[in-house]
Amino acid sequence: MPIIAPSMLSADFLNLGAEIDMINDSEADWFHLDVMDGQFVPNISYGMPIIAHMKKRAKKIFDVHLMIEQPERYLADFKKAGADYLTVHYETGYHIHRTLTSIRALGMKAGLAINPHTPVEMVRDIIHEIDLLLVMSINPGFGGQQFLPLTFNKIRQAKEMITKAGSNTLIEIDGGVTLENAAEITAAGADVLVAGNTVFSSSDPKAAIKSLKQAGK
Ligand code: DX5
Ligand code: ZN
Repeated sequence: MPIIAPSMLSADFLNLGAEIDMINDSEADWFHLDVMDGQFVPNISYGMPIIAHMKKRAKKIFDVHLMIEQPERYLADFKKAGADYLTVHYETGYHIHRTLTSIRALGMKAGLAINPHTPVEMVRDIIHEIDLLLVMSINPGFGGQQFLPLTFNKIRQAKEMITKAGSNTLIEIDGGVTLENAAEITAAGADVLVAGNTVFSSSDPKAAIKSLKQAGK
């Protein structure tokens, strides 16, 4: 069964406490937290203070997805805010190996995200430094976008690369995950499904989470 990580970007921020309780009581495994700086992506979301507040109420793993330039400036701050997994984008760095190593040294799991245009091949030589490979299935910046079908091939390639290398890296898919495509995404090799719109636009978010969870049985 896939790990389900609801993206809080689509949550009702006026009722954030209740939204967190809902995830706590659901079959979801992680909280997916999207940090955007208006530079790397054309949108601004939230940062460390909000995440630190959420951490006080949440009872599950914090999967923090940094869509910011020079993420290496803030690794320790996100650790302090409560990140368990900290993911940076491949496209943001000259020294990604160093950044991944630093994330682990701070006691977090190291995540690396690749945009739709970045070939899976680019991470082959550092796969053992990556606990979580986030394959973007949309161009990052906004929730509620359409899943890009090119992602299926990338999932299969990533799965093959990780298996061959004998690495424990998890494959996470983020963007446009729906009740309709979740089974196919999981069958291709995904371990973690992020879902914003599918969960929070549902009239029954807990049921939506349950259905996503069942998708890869
Ligand atoms: C977008 C974020 C996603 C987003 C997914 O850049 O990384 O996590 O919230 O939203 P949905 O599931 O609605 O596509
Ligand atoms: Zn995300």
